[in-house]
Amino acid sequence: MLVFDKIKDLKKCLTDKKKTGATIGFVPTMGALHQGHISLITISKAETDFTVCSIFVNPTQFNNQTDLTKYPRTPQKDIALLEEASCDVLYMPDVEDVYPKNDNRQFNFGYLDTILEGEHRPGHFNGVGQVVSILLAGIQPDKAYFGSKDYQQVMIVKELVKQLQLSTHIIACPILREPDGLAMSSRNTRLSGEERKIAAHIPVMMQKAIALIKEKDINAAKDYIKAETTMHPLMKLDYYEVCDANTLQPLKQYIPLQSTISLIAVFVGNVRLIDNWPV
Ligand code: PAJ
Repeated sequence: MLVFDKIKDLKKCLTDKKKTGATIGFVPTMGALHQGHISLITISKAETDFTVCSIFVNPTQFNNQTDLTKYPRTPQKDIALLEEASCDVLYMPDVEDVYPKNDNRQFNFGYLDTILEGEHRPGHFNGVGQVVSILLAGIQPDKAYFGSKDYQQVMIVKELVKQLQLSTHIIACPILREPDGLAMSSRNTRLSGEERKIAAHIPVMMQKAIALIKEKDINAAKDYIKAETTMHPLMKLDYYEVCDANTLQPLKQYIPLQSTISLIAVFVGNVRLIDNWPV
């Protein structure tokens, strides 16, 4: 695997590759890689000729300074995992290479930025918009792969690509889970043994809530999630919402044939975890 820390060197490499007619797949990450990330590499490798992964902990998307400083960093393990997955190129820049000068751009993602993660993490999606647009402009991949674990992020990135009229196709990939159902996340490594056991309750609650939506109504599911998270002293609910899967508009009533998604953000100890399940 080739490793670059400067975009100008990566660009040179990609220009040569593109001349041979090769298609480029791109998987942006913030490192502390796990099999969820690797599944995106695997899909990219299956669908394109040359796969680029980036590892960059993007400061502009953290609205919480502690979250940024505590973000796990495991570069050696990441490189080993990417080598094992036969990733072709890793781009691992420092802040100056991505932001040679301050990025003051303000995106307007409209409604999408006012709900759920947008509402609870002000400025987060603007930072995601900044870094993803810089990476896509530098790499100019044919396809870029994002996990549905960050359901709203995929919608934001699709909107970004539309607004900037970029030619990259954005591909949403399935969520990879641990054997007990917990969505894989770099943040899981920050959980203590006890917190990890409590986190395993998230997918269980989400499934029980789906059953309640179908048997009773959305409010019954919301009451249940509130009660369950209040009961666990180490859990604190940030939000639980049931939305139209295409627009993310919150639903008051469940309509069986309308595609519906349930989304949660919950603190386990100090670690904020998100998950989503189709209804
Ligand atoms: P990060 O959290 O490192 O995630 C990188 C990609 O991996 C995202 O598209 C995310 O949705 C995906 N991913 C994470 N956990 C997953 C899982 N369990 N199953 C499948 N895919 C999973 O998301 C970001 O970084 C950043 O916001 C980024 C897009 C890189 C911009 O900085």
